[in-house]
Amino acid sequence: MAKSPYINLDDPDKSANVVWHQASVSHDERASIKHHKAAILWFTGLSGSGKSTVANAVDRLLHQLTCHTYVLDGDNVRHGLNGDLGFSDLDRVENIRRIGEVSKLFVDAGLLVLTAFISPFKADRDLVRRLNQEAHFIEVFIDTPLEVCEQRDPKGLYQKARSGEIKHFTGIDSAYEAPESPEIRVETAGKSIESCAQQVVDYLQEQGLIHKVIKP
Ligand code: ADX
Repeated sequence: MAKSPYINLDDPDKSANVVWHQASVSHDERASIKHHKAAILWFTGLSGSGKSTVANAVDRLLHQLTCHTYVLDGDNVRHGLNGDLGFSDLDRVENIRRIGEVSKLFVDAGLLVLTAFISPFKADRDLVRRLNQEAHFIEVFIDTPLEVCEQRDPKGLYQKARSGEIKHFTGIDSAYEAPESPEIRVETAGKSIESCAQQVVDYLQEQGLIHKVIKP
């Protein structure tokens, strides 16, 4: 694969004079004032699989449980921070690298961050897992078969990809490497959005990530 034009890890001089500044408030101190542990819920799946829909439904449930959350969504982030990136393999790698770094900052701030990106390559998802402590990374595979995504085709993009109007479309002429052992596998076909979202929240509660809130 060609070298990324965005980052050159072989060029240490680029950030030679940058020194890490220690924050006065630690991660543990920030996390201690929340009703939950800080973590990334990393949603991955094909376009049209339901990543954003389920992530937003989970977000609503977590908010009701007084969790401090934020959703980073591929379609939205590509309008701003990652607006310079397209859909070549290199651009997708950079897309996920940046989101991995941003998510890490959210976790450091004590939040439960939900990310909804196709993130088609296993190596990139694993990189984000390594970038964050293992306990902070929860991979959520939105496991919807290509046929179902194509049938849903909410943005008409599969039709365009099939006709050749869009190139490098995931699942059509660009690869999707499904997770082998995600923490959560949500099969959306034939299920309601609410039950898919509840499955994710149940997992977080089982794992002790959400603390019980005693209301006065
Ligand atoms: S990723 O592969 O780099 O993780 P990301 O999740 O940010 O992708 O963006 C995917 C969204 O971009 C899709 O939901 C779809 O709306 C839109 N899109 C436009 N072109 C493509 C393409 N060639 N492949 C996949 N998604 C595309």
